[in-house]
Amino acid sequence: MRKKIVAGNWKMNMTPTETKELIAKLKDKCNTDEVDVLFVVPSIDVTTAYECLKGTKIKLGTQNFYFEEKGAYTGEISAKMIIDAGAEYVIIGHSERRGIFKEDDEMINKKLIASHKFGLKPILCCGESLELREKGTYKAFIEGQIKSAFNGIDKNQAVNTVIAYEPIWAIGTGKTATSDEAEEVCKFIRDVIKALYDESVANAIRIQYGGSVNAGNAKEIFSKEDIDGGLVGGASLKEDFINIVHY
Ligand code: 13P
Repeated sequence: MRKKIVAGNWKMNMTPTETKELIAKLKDKCNTDEVDVLFVVPSIDVTTAYECLKGTKIKLGTQNFYFEEKGAYTGEISAKMIIDAGAEYVIIGHSERRGIFKEDDEMINKKLIASHKFGLKPILCCGESLELREKGTYKAFIEGQIKSAFNGIDKNQAVNTVIAYEPIWAIGTGKTATSDEAEEVCKFIRDVIKALYDESVANAIRIQYGGSVNAGNAKEIFSKEDIDGGLVGGASLKEDFINIVHY
């Protein structure tokens, strides 16, 4: 049985002071181990969040890092810094990083390899644009994203990767994929993983859905066979997140 993972991606929201306030509102009611609960905060908030979450079961992640170990990379942060500050997880390949910050498949592959090498647990995002959805070529596109990202990743590392399927047209738009649309792609991704590795890896790997998840639609989406929880943007900044965790 795969354990569900419900993660809040705070994106570029919350100062350290606001982080304390939000965690104070959420932590008691999100403190469960029925599902893995994860707050994915801006890197400047990790230390504060770590202190606030001490003694709870809530896990901590951040939204980006650079694949090199250390050195002259002005403005970047390393896996070691993130781990030392108290976070375990990192998001890789979010569509906002691919789109706005021009991260390509090669960069995302290097980051996935580096996350495992340095001991950060990755949440690898994939997902198609509205144009590809309407053209009907979205599955081939997603297959390409997954194959490229997992190049050089061994079986054990693959099992310890979380995949988040986030159709770009559903992010921040209030237009969620239907539970059937989300399930179709999550199942497809599992089949791609099976072809790359084997059935045991495909059965073990966790695949989330992300894109306008809220307290009203979480239960239906997370109840699908191949959907192992969600990556939640806007609704993770509100008390709504409590209801999503307890979907
Ligand atoms: P929204 O839940 O705000 O649509 O964001 C989804 C997302 O991008 C999570 O990573």
